[in-house]
Amino acid sequence: MLHFERRQKYHQCLPFASAVVRRVQGMRSSQYSWALSYDVSIEWVIVWERSMTRHYVEEILRARVYDVAEESPLEIATRLSDRLDNRILLKREDKQQVFSFKLRGAYNKIFHLDAESRQRGVVAASAGNHAQGVALAGKRLGVPATIVMPTTTPAIKVDTVRRLGGKAVLKGDSYDEANEYALKLAEEKGLNFIHPFDDPLVIAGQGTIGMEILRQHADPIEAVFVPVGGGGLIAGVAAYIKHVRPDIKVIGVEPEDAPTLHDAMKAGKRVRLKHVGLFADGVAVKQIGKETFRVAKGLVDEVVLVSTDQICAAIKDVYDDTRSVAEPAGALAVAGIKAYLKQKPELSRKTLVAILSGANINFDRLRHVAERAEVGEQREALLAVQIPEKPGSFLRFCRMLGRRSITEFNYRYADAKEAQVFCGVELRAGSDEREALIDTLGEKGYRVVDMTENETAKLHIRYMVGGHAPQAVNERLYRFSFPERPGALLDFLSGLSGGWNISLFHYRNHGAAYGRVLVGIQLEKGQGREFEGFLKELGYNYAEETDNPAYKLFASGG
Ligand SMILES: Cc1ncc(COP(=O)(O)O)c(C=O)c1O
Repeated sequence: MLHFERRQKYHQCLPFASAVVRRVQGMRSSQYSWALSYDVSIEWVIVWERSMTRHYVEEILRARVYDVAEESPLEIATRLSDRLDNRILLKREDKQQVFSFKLRGAYNKIFHLDAESRQRGVVAASAGNHAQGVALAGKRLGVPATIVMPTTTPAIKVDTVRRLGGKAVLKGDSYDEANEYALKLAEEKGLNFIHPFDDPLVIAGQGTIGMEILRQHADPIEAVFVPVGGGGLIAGVAAYIKHVRPDIKVIGVEPEDAPTLHDAMKAGKRVRLKHVGLFADGVAVKQIGKETFRVAKGLVDEVVLVSTDQICAAIKDVYDDTRSVAEPAGALAVAGIKAYLKQKPELSRKTLVAILSGANINFDRLRHVAERAEVGEQREALLAVQIPEKPGSFLRFCRMLGRRSITEFNYRYADAKEAQVFCGVELRAGSDEREALIDTLGEKGYRVVDMTENETAKLHIRYMVGGHAPQAVNERLYRFSFPERPGALLDFLSGLSGGWNISLFHYRNHGAAYGRVLVGIQLEKGQGREFEGFLKELGYNYAEETDNPAYKLFASGG
């Protein structure tokens, strides 16, 4: 063990060291077990590790980023702060000219190349934000930039790189293949390879965000939440913040299906993940960087994991507060704050910062995001329910759900005894309400399967409830619309009851002004006129669709 006086000396040199020591002791003793076995104090290890990362602070102070980057605003998210009973600040990196922070590191790296290297040009592999950062930096500095992108890259991203003056080369089916080709080009043509994260100058460029946060908010901060892919952003931010304000926690946030830093911290070494989820494409990295892990492992306090649905809910939270749409990786830190506060309900009136790292999302993905946001927020339950196949049981089931808004309702006649209904129900009190609802339905004799967390059901089965039903003879198909409001579907069903046999039903609440329903009714010969008269009396807008080819091809009855 080191002598106490010697330790004291280090504490004097680095007055914040004791705080760091207290933080690490007990938290990650397993990570430092080697130190204990060599009879070295944990304090000494921390001091040593910190001295190894201290030069980053100087690199960050010296970093050249403001030729292309703005000092992005640090804004309060008022609604989210009220909801979470803490002050939530958003570091708006989505406001950069390429809609993400990645231009900071890329510019700093390319700026520091010598004249000869600049002349030869640079090469990078990326299908996302790094590509745009490198292309823009190259353009500003007059350095030819080649970006290798997988052939699957959406045209909009390829076009953006070209518009920024980069040479886009499409190669390989995956990032790994594109990367391999970029490395080959670098070697063959003597181009400088610009790594997306594992480079000290890239890390220092991203670290300027940490510097700005501390300058913009001198008051106490409980924690800064950082999205993590390869770790360039968190390494830079943590290196600066832990040096200047070691009392502030730096917390990494990763998707559950891409836990690169989380797993590495747990194992005490870098691990290579077999598969990573692609939803948050900005952070879909299989392995944390070598240098980024060396820096981050001793400085990051914790890594929080979040689900796809939680990320979608966070995109909605950001939208509600800012009217801006974050990309999944961009909203990761907000999702992390919410998950963290759930684990620590005692935290109140603290200041928590989320780095909103980017907003490059394809417009067509928003449909999926909107659909999943409610589930991620625990505001919707998805249930598969078995109900008896007899007139009136459908209405009885709807009554059981009460005046709750029904967000989706799919039913198709299957056999003479039982019917399966797939429905979405709006919740106001989260998972507790969902459990209570399932219990109540169970007590009333309904067999319920909770589909709220079932990926396959959410992605596929919900849209496949249906198919041909040869037993549904004499079926006629009608399309209805009615003004949307809570209870509107129940009223519609109550109006439609009266002995008519419903054999198909599809309703989805899209948040639009009108609810739209497709209904199949089995009518005996001669009942057609009577039913038309009934519909007129009912007063809803409707149209018969029995001859619609889509129905005939995919869903007709017998
Ligand atoms: C929007 C966004 N957020 C976060 C990250 C993660 O950054 P890093 O790879 O430095 O961890 C990226 C990386 O490209 C990104 O594009």
